[in-house]
Amino acid sequence: MDIYDAIHRRRDVRGEFTGEPIPRDVLERVLAAAHAAPSVGLSQPWDFVLVRDPAIRRAFHGHVRSERAAFAATLTGAAAERFARIKIDGVLESSLSIVVTYDPERGGPAVLGRHAIADAGLYSVCLAIQNLWLAATAEGLGVGWVSFYREPYLRDLLGIPETIRPVAWLCLGPVTHLERIPDLERHGWRRRRALDAAVHHDRWTEPAG
Ligand SMILES: Cc1cc2nc3c(=O)[nH]c(=O)nc-3n(C[C@H](O)[C@H](O)[C@H](O)COP(=O)(O)O)c2cc1C
Repeated sequence: MDIYDAIHRRRDVRGEFTGEPIPRDVLERVLAAAHAAPSVGLSQPWDFVLVRDPAIRRAFHGHVRSERAAFAATLTGAAAERFARIKIDGVLESSLSIVVTYDPERGGPAVLGRHAIADAGLYSVCLAIQNLWLAATAEGLGVGWVSFYREPYLRDLLGIPETIRPVAWLCLGPVTHLERIPDLERHGWRRRRALDAAVHHDRWTEPAG
């Protein structure tokens, strides 16, 4: 698969996990791809917690369910009905969960390139996640990013120190297939913007309409 195929075939997966094991060499390649990401000041501020323990995953899933209910309570009418039909995680069905964390102290105190933009560290972690996502797609695996959680809960569940921020709970594993259209679009929640609407020339221009 070339890089453009991987980029365009990548999907956020919730409902298509088979639960089959991930071969060890495949997992190593996917993690190595994540670890090869660019990072501000070469700080490599990420860590990857591989969560296999079913009890931990069940506990996390219960927390996700309650956060889902909290979000659902903010919706009314058609949005509430649409959201009720959308699956938001594959925590129990996927083969492996990977929690990606951010350590703002890594490479400090003088992280080259972060003095003016503190978020540059977080951006670096997101690039590692995107590398992981694309590599997994190229390997024929699916990835689902779950953000229906409170950081203190997840820190507590996995024993993550106070100074380190959990950035993503990723569900990973073999899938029956990857959908061609994002789930949120298929369920009428939201449509993707056209590229033209996102590109500006020389100055910021307000989108038409
Ligand atoms: C930061 C971030 C958090 C996300 N959190 C969730 C989530 O909690 N549950 C979910 O089902 N999808 C989540 N997603 C997936 C998005 O809904 C998905 O990327 C988007 O709808 C586009 O679909 P695609 O990734 O298949 O192209 C998240 C994606 C990102 C980048």
